[in-house]
Amino acid sequence: MRILVTGGAGFIGSNFIHYWLKTHPGDQVINFDNLTYAGHQESLQDVEGNPNYKFIKGDITDFTIVKNVMSGIDTVVHFAAESHVDRSIIDPLQFVRTNVLGTATLLNAALEAKVKRFHHVSTDEVYGELGSNDPPFTENTPYSPRTPYSASKAGSDHLVRAYFETYGLPVTITNCANNYGPYHDPEKLIPRFITNLLEGQKVPLMGKGENIREWLHVQDHAEAIDLVLQKGKIGETYLIQGEEKTNMEITQMILRILEMGGSMIEYVGHRLGHDFRYAINGDKLKALGWVRKHNIKDELPKIVEWYKQNEWWWKSLKSGRPNIDRSVQQSYEPKH
Ligand code: NAD
Ligand code: DAU
Repeated sequence: MRILVTGGAGFIGSNFIHYWLKTHPGDQVINFDNLTYAGHQESLQDVEGNPNYKFIKGDITDFTIVKNVMSGIDTVVHFAAESHVDRSIIDPLQFVRTNVLGTATLLNAALEAKVKRFHHVSTDEVYGELGSNDPPFTENTPYSPRTPYSASKAGSDHLVRAYFETYGLPVTITNCANNYGPYHDPEKLIPRFITNLLEGQKVPLMGKGENIREWLHVQDHAEAIDLVLQKGKIGETYLIQGEEKTNMEITQMILRILEMGGSMIEYVGHRLGHDFRYAINGDKLKALGWVRKHNIKDELPKIVEWYKQNEWWWKSLKSGRPNIDRSVQQSYEPKH
């Protein structure tokens, strides 16, 4: 099988390619990625010599190149996106361009190339935020995105479904929780906090750390996508559940692993439109046979160790970047 992975140089895409080459050694994997600030070919340097792996640099909004790349492809797994909520607050149009127009461009090319499956990777954030006592999201929860990032991902999900309903393109969609694992860009909560502490800097915790996210190991995510490709029903959406934790719980876990105390926390303002809580009911995927194999309490020490051992991967990324915190944070207390 020839599988096209878009955004394969990003966090989840690179982990997915590692997973796929290991578990499906007879398949050819084509990684199509534009290498934005979030794309790191270094994450795949160990598979560069694999004859079943090929990298093609290009933009998913460029129909000419997308059409060429799509030719002869059996399955598309679409990760490429602008993925960081804080950046979407500063530059929403870039998110609309990549996430909406880019997805539409891929869908058009996939239709022309008659691919056998177009799998779209999306997020729980499309459902908006939950209060403390609200029931978790299900596949039937109405869309209610609240940030430019989640609104652009919602737009992409709608387009994927529309290509199924209108043209019969064989699609599946997964919407998942916050991932954690190796090769996670240090702009996101867990790797940012680990690398800050490794460099002796404080960690900027928004509010009082009361916001809640669900955490999913990137390997469990890869297995879930694999299962949906094998057993998922065409045209359907599957949610991929993680484990609920407050940001303070995550921060305390990291501090304990590194034997540091609460004085390393710097309390900062919430991001604009900061969603309070996400939570997922994963029963539909579990009915296909998916089981979450990792839990964050056992895995976080391994992730901390990975960042200790792989400074070569993250140090230069981190040092070259402007701090965007002030532009995205509000100074007043949010409603929760
Ligand atoms: P990431 O930001 O780490 O990687 C995105 C990749 O897409 C990068 O390699 C980048 O170079 C590439 N890319 C961006 N614009 C492109 C373009 N125009 N053309 C081609 N390539 C382009 O993202 P991630 O965290 O790995 O997330 C992957 C997908 O999973 C995204 O669609 C995201 O919305 C979704 N998702 C992520 C999480 C999470 O916790 N990280 C959770 C749920 C869903
Ligand atoms: O829920 C899935 C989503 O998870 C994905 O769709 C996104 O692509 C991914 O980036 C992630 O979004 P979040 O906004 O939840 O992730 P982030 O790591 O940016 O923030 C997690 C929480 O931590 C959030 O409540 C904000 C808070 N935070 C984040 C950073 C970067 C801080 O308190 N301080 C920080 O410096």
